[in-house]
Amino acid sequence: MQQILTEVQKQLADANNEARRLFHGRGHCFEGFEHVVIDWFPPYAVVRLYRDVEAEWLEALSATLKTVPEIKGLVIQQRSRGKEANQDAVWGDVPEQMETMELGLSYHVKPQRNQNSGLFLDMREGRRWVQENAKHKRVLNLFSYTCAFSVAAISGGADHVVNLDMSKGAISTGRDNHRLNGIKGDRVTFLAYDLFKSWKRVKQLGPYELIVIDPPSFQPGSFVAEKDYRKVIRRLNDLTEAGSQVLACHNDPKNGTDFLKQLMLEECPDFRFEERLANPADFPEAEIEKGLKVLLYIREK
Ligand SMILES: C[S@@+](CC[C@H](N)C(=O)[O-])C[C@H]1O[C@@H](n2cnc3c(N)ncnc32)[C@H](O)[C@@H]1O
Repeated sequence: MQQILTEVQKQLADANNEARRLFHGRGHCFEGFEHVVIDWFPPYAVVRLYRDVEAEWLEALSATLKTVPEIKGLVIQQRSRGKEANQDAVWGDVPEQMETMELGLSYHVKPQRNQNSGLFLDMREGRRWVQENAKHKRVLNLFSYTCAFSVAAISGGADHVVNLDMSKGAISTGRDNHRLNGIKGDRVTFLAYDLFKSWKRVKQLGPYELIVIDPPSFQPGSFVAEKDYRKVIRRLNDLTEAGSQVLACHNDPKNGTDFLKQLMLEECPDFRFEERLANPADFPEAEIEKGLKVLLYIREK
């Protein structure tokens, strides 16, 4: 328990009152705690457990976190018990919906939701890169979810962002996230469609100087990386021009960077690999290839 507390305190010291992962056991850097993750939506902590644990251990964890003065409420989610099960706060008055901050921007989150609370915390460095590199660009945000990349791009001076996600609910939260940050509608387009049925529309709105591709690894019926990622990569030639940048993301521990690199090599020979973005310090990984992959490419001709 002391190991968890020490890491939580270390991450809290760096959190600057913004959303952050406080404990990333899934990165295999903390032996025996590979099933434990703790997220921070100040001032509330959300524990996610990826296998069943003993009730006494859970009580001890809850009591330990209660000793941390910054934490005003705790939610515990047992991921092994099904993604639909919303969890009650264990202690404290944790709201169902709230606003949280990242890189100085605000986002709507639902800390009690058992999956996808509204902001994927592991993508913070990707959003930072977009915020710093989107100035005067026309941006396409594929698999946009709640459009956090778009908020980051507009705040970084992007001319226009086209967001696409098949989830109407996610797109609706995306609109709210823009309003929350005072972003006017005329610089942003929202498409609540299945990407594989919308290429014509996406192309009409291009070409794009920056494209973010951040699909799920495995969402049967919608996107399965091994089969579908190539179909997206193949379209980049049509959607970009010389000088355009692409941020291709993949978060399946089974596939290393070679998975994306090979697809790019085969389908987009005009693109040059530039760099792999570093993951946030609050997501330590024992094996870097198993962590989130965010690869930057530039079209040369
Ligand atoms: C990993 S999340 C994206 C996270 C997002 N880029 C962010 O920064 O928060 C994956 C998203 O892909 C969407 N999705 C999955 N299959 C899709 C498809 N065929 N067409 C459009 N969206 C899809 C899901 O609805 C989900 O919101």
